[in-house]
This record gives sequence, C-alpha cells and structure tokens, in this order.
Amino acid sequence: MPLLSVRVAGLELEHPVMNASGVLGSSPEALERLARAGASALVTKSFTREPRAGYTTPIAVPLPHGLLNAVGLSNPGLEGLRGLVQAARGLGKPVIVSIAGSTPREFAELAAAAEEAGAAAVELNLSCPHARGRGLELGMDPATVGEIVEAVASTVRVPVLAKLGLVDRLVEAAGRALGAGARGLVLINTLRAMAIDVYAMRPVLGNRVGGLSGPAIHPVAVRAVYEVYREHGCDIVGVGGVEDWRTAAELILAGARAVQVGTAIVTRGEHVIGEIVEGLKGYLAEVGAKTIEELVGAAHRH
Ligand SMILES: Cc1cc2nc3c(=O)[nH]c(=O)nc-3n(C[C@H](O)[C@H](O)[C@H](O)COP(=O)(O)O)c2cc1C
Repeated sequence: MPLLSVRVAGLELEHPVMNASGVLGSSPEALERLARAGASALVTKSFTREPRAGYTTPIAVPLPHGLLNAVGLSNPGLEGLRGLVQAARGLGKPVIVSIAGSTPREFAELAAAAEEAGAAAVELNLSCPHARGRGLELGMDPATVGEIVEAVASTVRVPVLAKLGLVDRLVEAAGRALGAGARGLVLINTLRAMAIDVYAMRPVLGNRVGGLSGPAIHPVAVRAVYEVYREHGCDIVGVGGVEDWRTAAELILAGARAVQVGTAIVTRGEHVIGEIVEGLKGYLAEVGAKTIEELVGAAHRH
C-alpha cells in the first residue's frame, strides 16, 4: 500500500489533501464537515482584526471554466477567530488559521490570537485580489511580504505559511517570505477577473472585480509552483483548480507537498476530497511509487 503521509512546513499530515481558505472554513459545523470528509488539515476562512460584512451581492458567479467571487473577506473578526479555532480543536485535525491583516502589526496580533486559541499553523493571506489595503496589494511588493512574515514569525512559534498570488515578482516575493521565516508557501490565490452582464451592460459582481478560481487557473498554479520550487526548493502547498487526483498530482510533480481544494468543493461537494485521496493512491500504485514524497518535484528531473 503506497504511503500518502507527508510533512509540510513542519506539519505531519496523513495525506496531502485539505480545503482551501474561504471554502467551508467559516463555522465549526463547516470544519466538522471537512473533517468527516477526510481533509488532512482544516483551513479557516481569512480573519481580519475587526469584523467585516463583505460586499453587496452578487458575490459569486459560476463561469464555464471556473468561479468568479468577491466575497469581500467577510468574517466575524478576532473574537470569531478565537471561538472557531477553540471549537475546532476537538476535531482531531491540525487547524491552519488564515489571517488577512493590513499591517505587519495586525498580522502579528491575529497570528498570536490564532496560536493561543490552538492553531497548528497560520496562513498569511497576502494575495486576496479584491480587498483594498490587504491581500494582493501587500503581496505584490516583495519587501512588504518580508516585513509581514518577519513580524509574524518573530511573534509565534507555530509554522508560518505565506499565501502568495499571481504577481510579477512572485519568485522574489517567495524568497523574501522564506528569508523572513516562512516555513512554507501556499500558491496561488484567485486571479483578478471580471464578468459583464451583456443585457444589464454592467459588471455582474457587486464589487465589479473579483477573483477567478477553478479549472481555468489550474495551469497558472502549476507554473507558479514549478517556478518557485525550482528557485527555492521549499515546502509548497499548491492550490488552484484541483478537482481530481490528476490535477492534484500535477501540482505535486511541480513541487507541492500538499494541495488545497476550493472551487471543486463548492461545485461538487466536500466528498471530492476523499475521491482525490483514493485517486492519488491508485496513481502511486500505477507509477510504482512507494510514497507520495518521492513524487514531490519529480517534474524537475526531466
Ligand atoms: C468563495 C471563495 C472564497 C475564498 N475566500 C478566501 C479567503 O478568505 N482567503 C484566502 O486566502 N483565499 C480565499 N479564496 C481563494 C482560495 O483559497 C483558493 O486560493 C482559490 O480559490 C484557488 O483554488 P481553487 O481553484 O481550488 O478554488 C476563496 C475562494 C473562493 C472560491
């Protein structure tokens, strides 16, 4: 029986498949559903210090090859973070808490609260493409990425994961994050995108611009993971368009040690996690690999 267990950014996982932040990560009930579906870790929705209401509807629109969303980082703030993480502790899975500050100090404060509440790791959202003053606006500047990671890594002992998006200087930003103490990177977030209603003649989303996810962005994620792994050889959690064992395997061969699933959980349900895990077992047997770790970055050998 091939072994699916992996070690990523200091976390020991029974297999490489978990949910992506923002999908089933907002309530204890949602995290419990993920745990029952077999996710190897539970990733929360991104939390900010103050509660945020989110944008006006529509906040999501299905497109032929993906999903466009601008939820607006709606979350109940610091108090909500504490409550959710404490409630999730009994689920027996590592909880990765996603945080989205606007300054290094706010990130550090959120990370400290997450650690105190029982988080196994923190994931810094440096890549949300539609939140002013947060996310991508910070993550596009490698120096800012370094400052934020440094502030968090010097505050908490749990592993710090930096989630970066599609930016011009991605490889450089990744290097800054690692140099500042990130134990791993999460690549990638949604891509800035827009859909227009041709009869209403205006953008469909309440926020006009949103983030594109799902199959449409998968090859972009594969490329991002491949280039960052080639340069830094670091621990990477790959995310973007994972919907079956094959799309998961591509990210692993590019250099990811684990993968996250977002849109496919929305469109197909959380049982997709178990299907991907089973599919990966079959794939390992098919290619004669004894462990999944043997395949991490294997596409670089050719
Ligand atoms: C509805 C929705 C909400 C999301 N919310 C967050 C979030 O709060 N924080 C974050 O870092 N990423 C968020 N994302 C991005 C996902 O975590 C992931 O990076 C992206 O969707 C690509 O993966 P996928 O193609 O499997 O969906 C969200 C995505 C969707 C579809």
